[in-house]
Amino acid sequence: MVQSSVAPQDPAAARGAARRTQSEIYRAGVSGTRPAVPIDPGALEAAARKALSTEAFAYIAGGAGAERTMSANRAAFTRWQVWPRPLRDVTERDLSIDLLGRRRPTPFLLAPLGVMELAHPEADLAVARAAASIGVPYTLSTQASFPMEQIATAAPTGARLFQLYWSASDELNASLLRRAEASGCEAIVVTLDTHLLGWRTRDLDLAYLPFTRGMGIAQYTSDPVFQQLVRERARASAAGHGTPPPGESVKITPKAVAAGIQIARKGAALTGTGLRESLRSPLPRAAVETFLEVFSTPALTWDDLAKAREWTTLPIFLKGIVHPDDAARAVDAGVDGVWVSNHGGRQIDQSVPTLAALPDVVARIGGKVPVVFDSGVRGGADAFVALALGATAVAIGRPYAYGLGIAGEKGVREVVRNHIAELDITLGLAGHTSIQDVGREALREA
Ligand code: FNR
Repeated sequence: MVQSSVAPQDPAAARGAARRTQSEIYRAGVSGTRPAVPIDPGALEAAARKALSTEAFAYIAGGAGAERTMSANRAAFTRWQVWPRPLRDVTERDLSIDLLGRRRPTPFLLAPLGVMELAHPEADLAVARAAASIGVPYTLSTQASFPMEQIATAAPTGARLFQLYWSASDELNASLLRRAEASGCEAIVVTLDTHLLGWRTRDLDLAYLPFTRGMGIAQYTSDPVFQQLVRERARASAAGHGTPPPGESVKITPKAVAAGIQIARKGAALTGTGLRESLRSPLPRAAVETFLEVFSTPALTWDDLAKAREWTTLPIFLKGIVHPDDAARAVDAGVDGVWVSNHGGRQIDQSVPTLAALPDVVARIGGKVPVVFDSGVRGGADAFVALALGATAVAIGRPYAYGLGIAGEKGVREVVRNHIAELDITLGLAGHTSIQDVGREALREA
């Protein structure tokens, strides 16, 4: 396997990333080996479509409504052009940035992506290993396919952040944050744009939501507070109390039976038994129902956020900020970072593209806290534009899920490596030597 040319956690190692990546690729080509994943973002997505089931690809690639926010996220990049300035010595280039009190070799993060078992059975474990090997911090999702402790063990040297979906149970929120801190996460990222599930056309057409099959709920089923909620629910429904489980209205078809077995398989972790016992136990089904009930709350307000400070000593980022007034309010509320995101256009159709919002958000924050950017980044040149417009760091989303689906851990590593190499090349060709110093003057408005 071709190892990454960027050593973990070492800013110096990221220097010359482009040259090494290019020569690795071309040298391997001489012996007839091509990259494991396509370099072109469109070809990458097309290869993932082929590699994944219809449902998995729809869930990962799809967005809300007519997917106009997704298109707008991409289109917003066309407004900005990289302005080349030749004849400057760019032999030494530095991609490193300061984030969360540490020097990071590159300005990339991996965005939290839930239910990665849809793309590959090793899911978050493979992503964590790839991220650690290349020195890019990985944001673990609340909806990961493996418990955060297991992800930490899979890649103990990797930098990790934990993303929280603020659940309806404060006890559960507190427990998840305690576990994040205990398992070595460096920061908490509270996602604010998913207090309701978006109107996701492709998933609705397929009548497919992975959580209803017991997927993407491993952080919950491994949590002691959640397990208690599940036991209480199972007891209440055995006693004939509580809301009737949605499962009761499911028609018994071969597909429903297969889904039941899948849920039981996942639930074996909860019952601490084998599949046979798990199939007889009411707990796995109760876990899915409990999850669907508690996973988010539309009642969340700015005032509630203060509670997070009591639950953790870790720095707190707010993800899903798009309005400059909210950015200013976040700083006033004392958060440690803002993450500009519209969830990759998965929540609201015809919404504000994040790149269009970025300059105003950056201006209102005035350098007081770091700004992470995502939604629509498909390569190093896109990252260059976002960084030049004031983002501190850029998060990669769907592209790494596609890499995971096509070639597992190696696919993720290549996707991230390609982003880094293209950013390095863009930096040098544009006539700059330090990504942290690149500003608005590096761009021309089209
Ligand atoms: C996401 N995103 C997301 N965000 C989050 O805070 N928690 C999560 O669990 C998930 N899960 C998730 C799953 C999938 C399949 C996708 C595509 C996205 C949103 C993600 O963190 C990020 O904001 C977007 O992916 C950015 O958009 P692009 O660049 O991927 O289009």
